[in-house]
Amino acid sequence: MGTATARANANIAFIKYWGNQNDQLRLPVNPSISMNLGGLYAETTVTWDGALNTDSFALNGKEESGGGLERVSTHLDVLRARLGFATRARVESANNFPTGAGIASSAAAFAALSVAGAAAAGAQLSERELTTIARLGSGSASRSVPTGFVEWYAADTHEGSFAQSMGAPEYWDIVDVIAVVSKKHKDVGSSAGHKSANTSDLQGARVAGAGERFAICRQAILDRDFATFAQVVEHDSNLMHAVMMTSRPPLFYWLPPTLAIMEAVRQWRAEGLRVCYTLDAGPNVHCICVREDAQRVSDRLRASSDVLDVLVASPGAGAQVTTVSIP
Ligand code: DP6
Repeated sequence: MGTATARANANIAFIKYWGNQNDQLRLPVNPSISMNLGGLYAETTVTWDGALNTDSFALNGKEESGGGLERVSTHLDVLRARLGFATRARVESANNFPTGAGIASSAAAFAALSVAGAAAAGAQLSERELTTIARLGSGSASRSVPTGFVEWYAADTHEGSFAQSMGAPEYWDIVDVIAVVSKKHKDVGSSAGHKSANTSDLQGARVAGAGERFAICRQAILDRDFATFAQVVEHDSNLMHAVMMTSRPPLFYWLPPTLAIMEAVRQWRAEGLRVCYTLDAGPNVHCICVREDAQRVSDRLRASSDVLDVLVASPGAGAQVTTVSIP
């Protein structure tokens, strides 16, 4: 038993994960594709300690109890079952991006927790298996384990629904310029959202076309074809938000500034900037652009009174163990 620290970047999905065929195992109804967000990471230390009676969890220096601790402890149960021991753990995690800035932190957090937890026990698990373990904590966390551009497969078994890299970070020089329009914590989180996806009449249609969009997006990335990429990424985000808005009860994540920025991005593209938008379960707008146009996009966003903050992320690496000590 020992201690290990791991770092994992957040990621932004280009083809979205929304809805599970099995909520318990987080087996998604459709495959998804994302890019790791270099420099926006969670750093997590796991210490397995035979002297502990319970798990404990501190996030950004603050001791957590209730739901936050429970979700971490449930994930430690997954690791304990896989690694074959019952020892409790101390978990300390910190995000380097502004907390509450609306950047999905569960993906980075559960990827780092899975990788650090295995390393602290001295276990050498394959990357593929680590993606399935991370998935059980948060679906999108499976995509923060491999490097760069990552695809995560939909399957009806735990082993089959894994993620793998389809391109190193250097493969395509695109940038995520994130327009933060609200720092408020979202009212309805993704886990509850996934469960409500099927209450929308539109989810069936979204899922029916997801395989084709996945293939188009994948090929556009491989071809570095920004025009095709922009179309399919915006379309997929719009479809997911249409499902959200037509779920019962409805989920509206957009705020007026969200829509204004989406419209501006389409306008800028018509003027020749290579930029498109995508949104997760929140109002902040991820403006994906080619490196050459990133500065102009970021300047325009900063000039808008709707925008509270702008974060910029390049394609990032996969989860990595930074220190390990096993007595
Ligand atoms: C809209 O992975 O956060 O960001 O598995 O319940 O933790 P849980 O959900 P989560 O869902 C992410 C949803 C999304 C789209 C995406 O990242 O693919």
